[in-house]
Amino acid sequence: MNALTTVIFVFSNVFSLLRFSIAVDTITVNQPIRDGETITSAGGSFELGFFSPGNSKNRYLGIWYKKLATGTVVWVGNRESPLTDSSGVLKVTQQGILVVVNGTNGILWNTTSSRSAQDPKAQLLESGNLVMRNGNDGDPENFLWQSFDYPCDTLLPGMKLGRNRVTGLDRYLSSWKSADDPSKGNFTYGIDLSGFPQLFLRNGLAVKFRAGPWNGVRYSGIPQLTNNSVYTFDFVSNEKEIYIIYSLVNSSVIMRLVLTPDGYSRRSTWTDKKYDWTLYSTAQRDDCDNYAICGAYGICKIDQSPKCECMKGFRPKFQSNWDMADWSNGCVRSTPLDCQKGDGFVKYSGVKLPDTQNSWFNESMNLKECASLCSRNCSCTAYGNSDIRGGGSGCLLWFGDLIDIRDFTQNGQEFYVRMAASELDAFSSLNSSSKKKKKQVIVISISITGIVLLSLVLTLYVLKKRKRQLKRRAYMEHDLEGDETIEGRKHLELQLFDLDTLLNATNNFSNGNKLGEGGFGPVYKGILQEGQEIAVKMMSKTSKQGLEEFKNEVESIAKLQHRNLVKLFGCCIHGRERMLIYEYLPNKSLDLFIFGQMQSVVLDWPMRFLIINGIARGLLYLHQDSRLRIIHRDLKAENILLDNEMNPKISDFGIARSFDGNETEVNTTTVAGTVGYMSPEYASEGLYSTKSDVFSFGVLVLEIVSGKRNRGYNHPNCNLNLLGHAWTLYIEDRSLEFLDASMGNTCNLSEVIRTINLGLLCVQRFPDDRPSMHSVVLMLGGEGALPQPKEPCFFTDRNMMEANFSSGTQSPITLLEAR
Ligand SMILES: *[C@@H]1O[C@H](CO)[C@@H](O)[C@H](O)[C@H]1NC(C)=O
Ligand SMILES: *[C@@H]1O[C@H](CO)[C@@H](O)[C@H](O)[C@H]1NC(C)=O
Ligand SMILES: *[C@@H]1O[C@H](CO)[C@@H](O)[C@H](O)[C@H]1NC(C)=O
Ligand SMILES: *[C@@H]1O[C@H](CO)[C@@H](O)[C@H](O)[C@H]1NC(C)=O
Ligand SMILES: *[C@@H]1O[C@H](CO)[C@@H](O)[C@H](O)[C@H]1NC(C)=O
Ligand SMILES: *[C@@H]1O[C@H](CO)[C@@H](O)[C@H](O)[C@H]1NC(C)=O
Ligand SMILES: *[C@@H]1O[C@H](CO)[C@@H](O)[C@H](O)[C@H]1NC(C)=O
Ligand SMILES: *[C@@H]1O[C@H](CO)[C@@H](O)[C@H](O)[C@H]1NC(C)=O
Repeated sequence: MNALTTVIFVFSNVFSLLRFSIAVDTITVNQPIRDGETITSAGGSFELGFFSPGNSKNRYLGIWYKKLATGTVVWVGNRESPLTDSSGVLKVTQQGILVVVNGTNGILWNTTSSRSAQDPKAQLLESGNLVMRNGNDGDPENFLWQSFDYPCDTLLPGMKLGRNRVTGLDRYLSSWKSADDPSKGNFTYGIDLSGFPQLFLRNGLAVKFRAGPWNGVRYSGIPQLTNNSVYTFDFVSNEKEIYIIYSLVNSSVIMRLVLTPDGYSRRSTWTDKKYDWTLYSTAQRDDCDNYAICGAYGICKIDQSPKCECMKGFRPKFQSNWDMADWSNGCVRSTPLDCQKGDGFVKYSGVKLPDTQNSWFNESMNLKECASLCSRNCSCTAYGNSDIRGGGSGCLLWFGDLIDIRDFTQNGQEFYVRMAASELDAFSSLNSSSKKKKKQVIVISISITGIVLLSLVLTLYVLKKRKRQLKRRAYMEHDLEGDETIEGRKHLELQLFDLDTLLNATNNFSNGNKLGEGGFGPVYKGILQEGQEIAVKMMSKTSKQGLEEFKNEVESIAKLQHRNLVKLFGCCIHGRERMLIYEYLPNKSLDLFIFGQMQSVVLDWPMRFLIINGIARGLLYLHQDSRLRIIHRDLKAENILLDNEMNPKISDFGIARSFDGNETEVNTTTVAGTVGYMSPEYASEGLYSTKSDVFSFGVLVLEIVSGKRNRGYNHPNCNLNLLGHAWTLYIEDRSLEFLDASMGNTCNLSEVIRTINLGLLCVQRFPDDRPSMHSVVLMLGGEGALPQPKEPCFFTDRNMMEANFSSGTQSPITLLEAR
């Protein structure tokens, strides 16, 4: 008997153990969950139970990350009908429905089911999906109901954002009202099916941000969204479904996309080091992402001021409003269309396609068919490919006004706009492909440097112009061939100046006109006859690197255009003299203001912060958004010029290198740069990457905040350089002592502290620990907590020189001294 009891005891123990492990992620009809009890997904990632958000006392059924200290909630059941006490119970009914009831058994929330159920079970899956299963259903994917079909504000990997075309189920994100209130807020993010389907972020009914239509590769309005090493995504569209979905490359990464209560879609990842979320990316990056900011037929260009511009051949509808930066009324045609007489089309490239709510599409047509269809239908205002894969296919026709177009420096698209025949004239001067060739010709001639060649260029140019005029005539005959149309984007024209013009402008390069001495020669101020002020940079004959640098600089800058980069007007070649002609910036360079002769002009904190932001944007453009992708390699206060509104402009691309998109790091035998700004890996091993520029940027930030130079700075009490000083104060929580005292009390202290924190992150010893310029720009604009910096790299100048010369492999080593 005794033995039998033992057997029974052991057996029942095993049994209860088994039951426990089955029950841990599952709710059955007989096992409801009360407030205070939870279930956990099999791998322990997610937990389901009742919770109170933020400062609220209300209780809600929710799913949250179990492993994360913040307990971030990803889904809420009864978001519109909270419990006011802790009497809530979650039950599974015999019909396979989940209900939340209160203390008096009143139903606050329930799911639905279209099918009958037997022995139903609710299970919390490791993906964060709460599913209702039919007990006798063999198919593990066949759910009676799943929480992934009813998203709240969070899109987890594996969730579909989009629609079931058969049942009409619309899975879209909707924001919480606030951090304390998970009920539906003002914002939604989902797929809109009118016209060619698009992804819309709406505020109520109004569109706030248009991610654009899918173009076969990506969303037209989120060019930065591509498959990457962290996650991949897919767009699926067939008769049954249309949705977007993303999945993680390494499932141990924790990532979520949230629609915030203030209407931003933010993708963030969990960072163990910080025990918090880090912003990974956001779809809405700048003002140009505000829907229809420039009105109908306006183009938004973020690098430009003002950022709105009418499309060529259009003028502001209300000029006075437009001049006051109210662009909402948009633009109207200068010349009305005349369909009977025949219109033409103008090509726009590098843009976000206009709103397609009012469009028609056919995915099997080609561009030629598309063009002829559009030209035959007088209400068609534009056409383009609906799919850009394989050189483009499919046809998209727009009807009515063209709205919400923006300029993209990368990954933009092409489309063709209907214009009155008489307007087409104006475009011939914008023929970009012939310009590109002209530019090439100029660059080649620089390297050979001969008057013979120059005259040849001129002849070529004249011939081209003639040819173009002939072509234009052909074009007027409504030829709709794709490459006969003209790219409407403005292209930078590189002007060739002759020496006489420059001698006149600079008073024969008189000493009085000398602005300073650049890395490769003197810089003079000049005034052209038209009154235009210029800065002429001479490339000194003695410099061996001169010609290389010259070509480099011309090629680089000519292709770059950004409001935070200095503008190149042209160049001049005369015998062995080579000169670059830039816009003249009256306020000269930043170093003069922060530690030079202009120190008396106090730069207050808001001004310094604007300057830091401008430099960051210019650098981001160089690294990421420009056509070339450029590492500057010599970022320093001397190379930041200031215009009359104190907007910073990065200059001096003498040693800049463009790099291939796939390259992350480049090795060089020539270390060029400036002591005090060079990253350790560049100074000692000749390795440079965009992260070397980030290091220099970090030094610059700390210099701007403190008003002191890194190079040559010595703390009176100890042997620390500026970076070391910043770090010491930072860890002792005394960062405010780091500020330039001359700023007085103009500071926004939290902004200053964040900026110092950011500066320290940028000067980390290891490139991987430094943020990219993309993150830097986001951090400057954001308000969330920044990552903690580690101890930065702060060797003194002397150490760095030793590091250089001790590693004997590099020669020659050029250390450029500051101007
Ligand atoms: C429970 O819910 C019902 C219906 O929603 C409501 O009428 C009742 O007042 C609630 N009871 C409590 C104790 O909150
Ligand atoms: C609760 O059930 C009712 C009736 O079946 C249904 O109309 C309603 O949509 C359900 N509530 C939810 C949140 O599904
Ligand atoms: C991204 O990668 C996934 C999986 O490798 C693939 O199915 C998908 O088509 C890719 N998406 C794009 C836009 O290239
Ligand atoms: C995924 O990430 C974890 C933690 O960072 C790492 O240990 C693991 O090796 C990674 N797995 C793969 C396949 O890269
Ligand atoms: C949401 O909309 C309401 C009513 O239009 C408005 O009062 C409220 O400020 C809006 N909230 C946000 C975060 O925009
Ligand atoms: C789309 O274009 C193809 C080829 O021109 C044509 O055969 C097809 O009928 C069109 N479909 C629709 C819906 O117009
Ligand atoms: C032009 O296209 C629109 C939209 O598809 C259509 O309703 C209209 O009938 C077309 N007009 C002509 C003349 O084909
Ligand atoms: C633009 O220039 C290119 C190259 O010179 C030429 O092929 C093309 O026909 C020109 N287009 C027009 C419309 O003039």
